[in-house]
Amino acid sequence: MDEKLESAKKILKKYNQEHLLTFYDELPDAKKEILLEQILNTNFDLIQTLFNSTKISEQTDLSTVEPIPYVDKFKLSNEELSEYTKIGTDIIKQNKFAVLTMAGGQGTRLGHKGPKGSFTLELDSNKSIFEILCNNLKSAQKKYGVTIPWYLMTSNENNTATIKFFEDNNYFDYPKEAFTFFIQGELPMLDTDGNIILNENGLLKLASDGHGGIFEAMFKNNVLKDMQSKNIEWIFISGVDNILAKLVDPSFIGICIKNGSLAGGKSVVKSGPEEKVGVFCKKLGKPSVIEYTEISKEMCNMRDSNDELMYGESHIICNLFNIKAIENISKNSLPYHSAFKKANYMNGHKELVVAEEPNSYKFEAFIFDAFSRLDNMTIYRVKREEEFAPVKNAKGVDSPETAKNLYLNYTKKDV
Ligand code: UTP
Repeated sequence: MDEKLESAKKILKKYNQEHLLTFYDELPDAKKEILLEQILNTNFDLIQTLFNSTKISEQTDLSTVEPIPYVDKFKLSNEELSEYTKIGTDIIKQNKFAVLTMAGGQGTRLGHKGPKGSFTLELDSNKSIFEILCNNLKSAQKKYGVTIPWYLMTSNENNTATIKFFEDNNYFDYPKEAFTFFIQGELPMLDTDGNIILNENGLLKLASDGHGGIFEAMFKNNVLKDMQSKNIEWIFISGVDNILAKLVDPSFIGICIKNGSLAGGKSVVKSGPEEKVGVFCKKLGKPSVIEYTEISKEMCNMRDSNDELMYGESHIICNLFNIKAIENISKNSLPYHSAFKKANYMNGHKELVVAEEPNSYKFEAFIFDAFSRLDNMTIYRVKREEEFAPVKNAKGVDSPETAKNLYLNYTKKDV
């Protein structure tokens, strides 16, 4: 440990972060070890670069942005739809398809204690989000006669609770061997002077590195290797919080294959020009998503000759990737974006500072930043009322109440 301590001290001196050892002497041995590991595993050059980036406002050059072509599922002919469905069905039946759910978020807005997926909705019977999602896989198992592997990305914070939740619920009677849980990466949080902050235990205050951390996490946790060893070719990746997400959609797989795309993204039409969602577009000729904060009002209102919004394809985090695309993307980290958040921390006087206002920087990568690494992407427009019922906020828009109504309306109609 002495050697590690000396190395840590040297690094901290170099990067002016010596306060990180404030509590070292008081920590029990096990925590001392964790602290040293945290320090030795931190990329301080990256932290410095990230802090510098907080001083520069991120701006998109709108002249590099143009609309992206999309296919409307409901404008396909019956022949086209059955052709795509057949192609996708074959992939599923050949065990070349897997589902990955990103469940590492903090769910701050929902405010539920525990993993977001363990949140229960009062439907016809009470069901957790995880159970609703799992039902997609159980139906597919019956329909296609195969057990689709389910990968779940958790966070350091919620991994144990997530696995326990599945254990307690007997994996909703889906085969336990089909599950793989893996933990996403984290980055230290910084105060406004660029100092890494310490948590209540005197350790580095770390936060999940965003849903864009998925590719690096798949690589580092050997998830990619595992998929390769199972000959999986296509992976559907979505967030945990859309209870109408169609995890297994053969026509989506089929249309991507037919178009020769290594990835696809499902879209739903923006409810109006003002809706606060990111939309698919092209940036510098590559697939991308432009956020509602970046796009101009004029662009939001632009319509094509069919009177459709030219920037109207909302990104709903329901994306399909070929494993080759993931291999490629995971070679390099995606860019990080900073967010100014509230965080409690221990100050240099060994006092706990309770945040009333945002006081610290958190850094996150976004999954859609990966799209620019693809030559093309199939944007597949589906119906909002069939595939998008997000559970984001405790009340109001995109809340359990709205999601429940959308879910019941759709399932009543469909079942
Ligand atoms: P959100 O952007 O809605 O974030 O994530 P969140 O953390 O769930 O909720 P808030 O913003 O704190 O209220 C969209 C999807 O991406 C996953 C979430 O679990 C959700 O399914 N996600 C987000 C991760 O897996 N890891 C992250 O670091 C962030």
